[in-house]
Amino acid sequence: MFQCWPVLVVAVGVTALVYWYDVLPKDDPDYDLQEVVLQSTNSSESAGVFITVEELHELMVNSPKGVTVLDARNKYNPIVARSKPGAGKSIPGSHRASWGMFTVSGSRGDLKPIPDVEAIFRDLSVYNDVPVVVYGSWKEEWGEEGRIYWQLDYLGHKNVSILYGGIFSWDESGLDGKGIGGKGDFVASPNPEKISSADEIADLIDAGGDDLFLLDARTKTEFDGSTQYNVARGGHIPGAVSFHWKEVFAGDGSGNLKDPDVLRARLDELGLRDGMKIAAYCTGGVRSGFFYAVFKWLGYSNVSNYPGSWWDWASRTELPISTFAGHS
Ligand SMILES: *[C@@H]1O[C@H](CO)[C@@H](O)[C@H](O)[C@H]1NC(C)=O
Ligand SMILES: *[C@@H]1O[C@H](CO)[C@@H](O)[C@H](O)[C@H]1NC(C)=O
Ligand SMILES: *[C@@H]1O[C@H](CO)[C@@H](O)[C@H](O)[C@H]1NC(C)=O
Repeated sequence: MFQCWPVLVVAVGVTALVYWYDVLPKDDPDYDLQEVVLQSTNSSESAGVFITVEELHELMVNSPKGVTVLDARNKYNPIVARSKPGAGKSIPGSHRASWGMFTVSGSRGDLKPIPDVEAIFRDLSVYNDVPVVVYGSWKEEWGEEGRIYWQLDYLGHKNVSILYGGIFSWDESGLDGKGIGGKGDFVASPNPEKISSADEIADLIDAGGDDLFLLDARTKTEFDGSTQYNVARGGHIPGAVSFHWKEVFAGDGSGNLKDPDVLRARLDELGLRDGMKIAAYCTGGVRSGFFYAVFKWLGYSNVSNYPGSWWDWASRTELPISTFAGHS
């Protein structure tokens, strides 16, 4: 009998897998993407942060040097592809640019030295004078496209956009076309105001925190410390406000972003005032990278991402934390 039970376990496991694969319904994100006011603001910074699949196609056809298309998703994951069908596809000619390729090993969120990041982007056909469009799984994963967008924007690329609706909008559009290849020539000119570090945030907090709008893009339970993703301590940076990045999407499952005025009003309620430095963080600077793009789209300036984020802050035990569930 004893020798039989592993066989039984395997048999049950295989049956469950077949059932899951063949019988359970697939959750195909049914995006009903409208052309929400993607260019609604009157700030030049906000133009083209998000572009539609038609605009991407237009670049493929008419941009003099074509368009570099970056796929920000992590490695192909057959389980995700199965449960969300469009996720198994990709845009022709796109290059895989997952955020982990750019981080210092062991640090998780921190960016590699700039020459290394430049070299990786060149290998991915990034040129200074060719537009770049980054896509991902939109609201279905972790907002990875926002992280890659932020990296290029911080490094001074002048023409980078996120594909609105990600791979799903491409898949549903039926359009064809492709991104370009070749060895890129990207040279970075980083803008230090677009990146935040623990020291800088700690200094602004020490100075009273009045000039800082610190946004925590994680869930409420990560914010209060009850959920922890392999972090040294649970909680948040004192003074941060909680605004889960998924709340930038309309609550109707359409995949649309909320109306910009609704988002601005919410940020206002949370205490965002003119002249403040905005810094977003999450666990490793990925979800906050998406929020960085949202801030730019909404027309705010002086926006930064803290790439090391909570992994970094929590590991520096000399830095204060808060586990207060409301806004501290
Ligand atoms: C345009 O700018 C004005 C002045 O800064 C601001 O009040 C208004 O909300 C902006 N409009 C949009 C759509 O962002
Ligand atoms: C990006 O490049 C495209 C194609 O060359 C061009 O039409 C567009 O105006 C550029 N956008 C910016 C912000 O420079
Ligand atoms: C951004 O905010 C920082 C911190 O308050 C400030 O030192 C800097 O001058 C601001 N930059 C701009 C362009 O307003």
